[in-house]
Formats: sequence, C-alpha cells, structure tokens
Amino acid sequence: MIFSAISVIFFFTLCIHQRDKVWRFFQRKTKRLTGPNDHIFGGYITLVKLWDLGKLLETLVEWSRKYGPVFQFKLGFYRIISLNSPEMIQKLLSSSNSSHLSKPFIYDVLKPFLIDGLLLSRGDKWRYRRKAVNKHLFSYGTLLSYTKIFNEESDNLLKILEERVKSNTDKNAMPIDDIMSSSSLNVISQIVLGKPLHFFAEANNENIIVDLVRKAKAIVTMKIFKPWLMFYPIWRLHPLYQTEKEALKLHRYVVERCTAPSEGNDEDFLFKKDLETDGVSPDGIIEEALAILVAGYETAASGIQFLLFFLALHPNHQDICRKEMDEVFGELENGFITISALKNLKYLEMCLYETLRILPPVPIFMRKLETPLELDSNLTLPTNSVVGIHVQAIHKNPKYYPNPEQFIPERFSEEERSRRHPYAYLAFSAGVRNCIGNKFAMMEMVLVAAKILRRYVVSTTDKLEDIVFLPHMTISMESPINFLLEPRTL
Ligand code: HEM
Repeated sequence: MIFSAISVIFFFTLCIHQRDKVWRFFQRKTKRLTGPNDHIFGGYITLVKLWDLGKLLETLVEWSRKYGPVFQFKLGFYRIISLNSPEMIQKLLSSSNSSHLSKPFIYDVLKPFLIDGLLLSRGDKWRYRRKAVNKHLFSYGTLLSYTKIFNEESDNLLKILEERVKSNTDKNAMPIDDIMSSSSLNVISQIVLGKPLHFFAEANNENIIVDLVRKAKAIVTMKIFKPWLMFYPIWRLHPLYQTEKEALKLHRYVVERCTAPSEGNDEDFLFKKDLETDGVSPDGIIEEALAILVAGYETAASGIQFLLFFLALHPNHQDICRKEMDEVFGELENGFITISALKNLKYLEMCLYETLRILPPVPIFMRKLETPLELDSNLTLPTNSVVGIHVQAIHKNPKYYPNPEQFIPERFSEEERSRRHPYAYLAFSAGVRNCIGNKFAMMEMVLVAAKILRRYVVSTTDKLEDIVFLPHMTISMESPINFLLEPRTL
C-alpha cells in the first residue's frame, strides 16, 4: 500500500518534472530558471523546509537574496516562479490582459469561504464585478460618507478599551487583538450588510465569530501545505472539518441578509440595492459581500495593531504623531475626524506605510498565466506558470529601502516616494488587480489609530524578534502582541 502510494507520487512527479523540460525545449526563449531544491524530489524537500510556518517568510526573503530577481521553487507537485524585481512585477501586475490576471490553484482553498467573489473570480466576470463594486463602494463620494461609521465605531472601541484598561489593575501588558478584530468586523459589515455583524449573531443567540475566522485562516494555510486535505473524502474525516463548518456561519448570516425580502425602509442595505441596479445576480451579491467582508476585516485589524506595535517600539515617532494629532484634534468638533482632518495626519500616515512595508498583512499573492508573458528579451514565462510575489522580498531589499530592518517613516515622504519605483511598494499589491479597498483601509487605519493614540500612550513588553508571524491567508501571530495603555490627560 505504502509502496504503491510512493510509486504513484513518483510517477506524477516525474511526469510533471519532464513536462517542464519538454515545455522548455519548445520554448527556447525561456531561459532556465534557477532556484532552491531544483531536482526531481525538490518539491517535497521544499515542503519539509517550509513546514515550519514561522520561518516561511524569512526563508523566502533569503531565497530572493540568493537567487535574484526571478527564480523558481517547487511546492510538492507545483512549480512556483518568484518575481523579485519591481520592473518584472510591473510587467505582470500592470498587464490588463485578462489571461494574466487569474489566481492559481492555491486560492481554491478559499472557495468554501468566498465562493467566487472578487478575490477569486476571473475574466469578464471579475472585470464587470470589480467595476460595479468600485463604483458603489469605493468612489470618492462613498468613501467620504464612511467617516461617520469609522468615527462611531472607533468611539465604541475606545469605550471597550477603557473598560479593559480599568479592569487591568495590575497594569500588565495585555493583548487587544480580539477588540481590534471585532471592531474592524463591525465596520466592514456595516458597509456591506448595513449592520454590524454581531447584530446577526446575537439575533441567533450565537457568539461573534472572530475566533472562528481566525481558525478558518489556519485551516486554509494547513490545506496549502497538506494538499491531500483538499480532497473532500479525506478532509471530512479531519477533526478540523467541524471547525470549518462552524466558521461557515459567516456565510449563513450573509446569505440570510442578502436573500431576505426588502423591507422598503432598508435604506442601510445599499450594497444590495446598488449591485442589483447594476445587474449583479442575487448569488453574485452574496459572493461580493463575502469577498469584501473577508478581504477587508482582518487585514485592517492587523494593520492597526502592527502600527501601534511599531509606535510602541519607537516612542520618539509616537511623540511626533501625537504632536501632529493634538494640533489637528484642536480644531475638531467633538473629536469627530473629518476627511480633511485625516489628510493632515501626514506623519501618522507615513508611519503606517512604513509599518506595512515591514509587516505587510498580505505577505504573498499569486497569479496564474493563461497565456505566455514576456518579462524581458530573453525571458518569457510560459502558459500555466504560477507566479508568486513575496512582498517582503521587495520591501526588505536594501536597493529600494536602505537599512530595511529599521523603522524609518520618512521613507514615505512625498519626495522619497516619488524617487522610488512605483512597484517597489506592494502592501496593497499594485496595477490592474490591486487591493480595491486600499484607500478605505488607509482611512480606517489612520482614523482608528489616531483616536487610540490621542487617548493613550502606547507601550509594549514584546520585542519584534520574539513575535512569530505566520503567513496564513493574512499574517497572523502565534501569540498576540501585548500592549500597555497609559491614559493621557487631555
Ligand atoms: C491593511 C489593509 C489591507 C491590505 C494590506 C490589503 C492587501 C491586499 C492585497 C495585497 C490584495 C491583492 C491580493 C491578490 O492579488 O491575491 C488585496 C486584494 C483585495 N482587497 Fe485588500 N487589503 C487591505 C484591506 C482591504 C479592505 C479594507 C478591503 C475592503 C473594504 C479590501 C478588499 C480587497 C478585495 C475585494 C481584493 C480583491 C481585489 C481583486 O482581486 O480585484 N482590502 N488586498
């Protein structure tokens, strides 16, 4: 039995390995790409090497330094081409050819959660939906209207933080990840579903699902590294199968909300109405609601926490932010941050960009080529290539960011930014299929961080090097960051 299994794996590996060689024979323009473990069982060695998820991101940075702007590695059966030069990345990401915009097999692990919304869809479906969602959710006018939700929700967050700080009589550093995640989920669900998600959960006498989403992320990553779990009959027997089913509660709320008959006065559920007017089907509305909820909640929650962490590690930068904030807040009515006030929080914004450079919440993204892509005169990537972009490989390249491990927000002054290659910053991806929520996320993160920093001096007992970052669907931490929040007298 074991012998047959090994033989089958060997046979398939051989076929795939040889297929590459045959392909290269015909594609003379494709020069031989180098990379780690470049031999027949290399893919399995890579799997073992990358098994320790806590080291995966570092390993990829190491490989990019060793093998240069483009290299390949295998993950089990699959060959992944890694691009590490802004010029080449631009060739890929700025291509508006639909056949260069698709997502590869690895994204299939997200299908149970996302069905086929923006993050996963391809071709004309993606193009049409992207236009509709962009028009209704992320136009400048709509973005302006979100400041009310951001302000209200961050005021609620401050109340919850205040209770937690009061109950922390020993003044120990404490995690705040649960509070940040619920708050971010409330923001995004108000925008998509018209109400905070806990409203639907409480109506069903159920707890909020932040913890389940966290487990779902871990499940998704596990399936990538244990691909046999993608086979339903095997997955059904796994103990985490039930957890995945529970995590799919998010689906149920979204489906119920999107399929409930309109109540006439349901003015807060504009997402559904707007997409309906643009001809998106009821199933399509569910898909896009799920895509925005999933893509938009954990990323922003992590971004805010990482920003607070870096400012806690660098009190001198925190002081500059606070000075800036005190000036801006001095001119506000009731602490309501308007869009023009947000624009004046320039230094805080620079700190956020620098944070996302060192710790991008989406550390890796990929494309699948459905037609060849010419990267330069002697390198054409063939059809079916899976191309990976490891964001930190660019963000930690001293050519673009000297002393890359240091936190230097000034790198993001307008002057410095204009000197850098536009594809040397990839926290939100770039080009045709970049993050559709980029501006929304920046507004939300700056506003929430400003409100917290205005009220508290933030410090931490953790060190950056002690935190283990796991490349789940978005970056997770093995254990949460601990913060000390010292109330300020305003
Ligand atoms: C710190 C916050 C965020 C970061 C770092 C981030 C990063 C990214 C990245 C790197 C991608 C490209 C993924 C890929 O190509 O596979 C992406 C796509 C996407 N993001 Fe974000 N994101 C953030 C916040 C948000 C928010 C708040 C929303 C929604 C309100 C959102 C919605 C989306 C969607 C729908 C896509 C798919 C776009 C498409 O394929 O057309 N993101 N994001």
